Amino acid sequence: MTAQPTFTEQPLLEVRDFQVELITDAGIIRAVDSVSFSIHRGETVTIIGESGSGKSTTAMGILRLLPEDLAVLSGTVLIDGVDVTADPKAIDKVRGKTLALIPQDPMTALSPVHSIGSQLFEAIRIAGAASAKDKGALQARAVRLLEQVHIPTPEKQLKKYPHQLSGGMLQRVLIAIALASEPQLLVADEPTSALDVTVQGGILDLLLELQEQRGIGILMITHDLGVARLISDRIHVMKDGSFVESGDVQQIVDHPATEYTRALLAAVPVLGPWDETPAATPLTTTGAKP
Ligand SMILES: Nc1ncnc2c1ncn2[C@@H]1O[C@H](COP(=O)(O)OP(=O)(O)OP(=O)(O)O)[C@@H](O)[C@H]1O
Ligand SMILES: [Mg+2]
Repeated sequence: MTAQPTFTEQPLLEVRDFQVELITDAGIIRAVDSVSFSIHRGETVTIIGESGSGKSTTAMGILRLLPEDLAVLSGTVLIDGVDVTADPKAIDKVRGKTLALIPQDPMTALSPVHSIGSQLFEAIRIAGAASAKDKGALQARAVRLLEQVHIPTPEKQLKKYPHQLSGGMLQRVLIAIALASEPQLLVADEPTSALDVTVQGGILDLLLELQEQRGIGILMITHDLGVARLISDRIHVMKDGSFVESGDVQQIVDHPATEYTRALLAAVPVLGPWDETPAATPLTTTGAKP
């Protein structure tokens, strides 16, 4: 967390009684059951839960990325004050502008047949930051974005294809693509779960650094309480589509109220005191939230 959020201001994201019913071959599944939460500028709010608990459905529902005919949404989602539940087209005003998604799997999220540069140029063009005709401006902006996510020799990397970069570098490229529109709110669905722990730490550091520089709000989705405790201001613990407990990070980690949260905690390999034994703590990052 950076600048102390002023809670008198309008939240970047406000979700009230949000529900998602999925129409499947086996019947209707209530994948998200009446969840409510909010995110202000400079805050990281994490949804944590076991596989199948409804985390991604919550994120995709908020972003309105679920197929309209297979997912029935209800409740209210306000993104920077824009109600995206009342009017399906309203999401176009904010997605890729106020709001950007960092998808889970870099290998499937990027096209294998297009260079990093052309995929980044496309994101910059869609964001309206440079026109497709102005190659110089596109190149300059792309280099700046790659520098921002600490990718070395960015000019060289722009010419490469996804298979020529490591998983950690690809995840940084996805973050650069998400940043192309200078969003105020980032939704990150398991942005580090495909990465080994040392690379995970670097990506989490990067997100915290970007938050510090630009005061963005982050909705983090993870199944890993080790990740959640490092970067979150608040945590919502999800099970079977509902939040079973919510609170600030210290409260959830130190005094879990449910057996389910205790089980998630038990799954974290090392859970030492905040600033001790960094060598034994797999996800120690310099920017860890105190
Ligand atoms: N396309 C789909 N068709 C049928 N059921 C689905 C579909 N997508 C999700 N579901 C169901 O919705 C529920 C929530 O799934 P969701 O993917 O949101 O979980 P998750 O918490 O993100 O899990 P994970 O940690 O594995 O990513 C699960 O019961 C899942 O089986
Ligand atoms: Mg998921």
